[in-house]
Formats: sequence, C-alpha cells, structure tokens
Amino acid sequence: MANLIITIDGPAGVGKSSTAKKLAQKLDAAFLDTGAMYRAATLTAMQSGCKLDDIAALEKIIDATNFKFQITGNQMTVKINDTDVTEQIRDTNITDNVHFIASAPSLRQRLVKMQRQLASEQRKIVTEGRDQGTVVFPNADYKFFLTADAAKRTKRRADELAQKGIKVDAGKLQQDIEKRDDSDRNRSTAPLVPAKDAVIIDNTTLTLEQTVNKIMELIKH
Ligand code: DC
Repeated sequence: MANLIITIDGPAGVGKSSTAKKLAQKLDAAFLDTGAMYRAATLTAMQSGCKLDDIAALEKIIDATNFKFQITGNQMTVKINDTDVTEQIRDTNITDNVHFIASAPSLRQRLVKMQRQLASEQRKIVTEGRDQGTVVFPNADYKFFLTADAAKRTKRRADELAQKGIKVDAGKLQQDIEKRDDSDRNRSTAPLVPAKDAVIIDNTTLTLEQTVNKIMELIKH
C-alpha cells in the first residue's frame, strides 16, 4: 500500500476531482478518480447490449473486459480493451445510467479491488469518490469530505460544461445532481456518507485554491 493515502469523498459537482488533482500536484502524489471507474464499467455494460439490472450477466462482462486506468502524476487515462474512453465516459448518457453499477455490491467489489491494487502501486495517492474513506481505505492517513449546497454545485458544473462549449438548462442540471445525490446517499452498499474520522469541509463559499489550502494546512507531509 502507498505510504500516504488521502481520501476525498463528497457529492456530485463539489469539486472533488479538481481539488484532488491540485492537491496531488502539490504533494507530488498520484491522483485516482474512482468515479471514472464506475463510468467505464457503465460504458462497457451499455456497449454489451445487456440489461443494466442483469447483475449476473454484467459480472461476466466486467470480468471479461480489460480495463486500464493509467495514472501518470495527476492525470488518469481510461482504456477499455485498449480503446481510450477518457472523454466518452463523461457523456450524460453514462452519468444517467451509472447508478445501476454503483448500487450492485458484486460489481463494486470488483472496482474496489482494482482501486486498492492501483494504490498499492503508488508511493503517495490522493483518491476521490464516494466511499474512499469509509470502505476502500478505512486506514487512510487523511480523510476529507467535501460538501456544498446544490445550487452552487450546479453552477460549477454548468460553468465546467460551458467551458467545453456545452450549454445546459440549469434547472434540469440541478434536478439531475439532486437525483444522483439521492441515489448515492440511499443505496445500501457503500452509500455516500462521511467517514467518522473525516474532516468535513463545506466549500460553498470557497474557491478551489482556498479548499486546497485548507486541506494543505491539515496535512503534515
Ligand atoms: O464522481 P463521478 O460523478 O464521476 O461519479 C459517477 C458515479 O459513480 C456517482 O454518481 C456514483 C458512482 N461512484 C461511486 O458509487 N463510488 C465511487 N467511489 C465513485 C463514484
């Protein structure tokens, strides 16, 4: 296992990836985006044409697929059977269907195993998701849980999409974010909750830089 593991969990649009990337950069650590793993598994399932609630069939498909999550410093490239899908897994189509995989314990187990394996190959790692501090790395050196109100998270996500030239209906985006929060918080396996020993940071009124600085103040490395 890595010498230093920092977990950052929290709901959609709270800035986990940006925070984790910046933090990893400052600490010369690797960055692991576990949401991308759930997205890659969802894309594989959708491409297979299999019903997304047929978990037994999906287990076989996932087991027969070659996933590559290449960590190079603070970048993560995702490949499915050697095809680069790093961008494709961001499609709203994937976002809308990821809850099928995320709520299936046997599929989560497979991804958790990959996450621990990836961490074991790194010296220092900043990992982000929903269950990193609670389930995957309960003994992490530092655990953070980011929160922000839904309207602010919607605004950030809309700005991010606008930068890519994608215009969205803000009302619909907020509804989608709240629906996903609901599904992530209320699933019975690895729900979105802060670990008991996580530091909770509400970043509603903080910039990315301020959030990262707050975390840096709490880390002794
Ligand atoms: O962080 P993200 O939006 O890319 O994550 C996509 C979905 O994947 C999210 O709605 C829930 C699921 N997920 C999860 O269940 N556990 C994780 N550790 C990371 C993501």
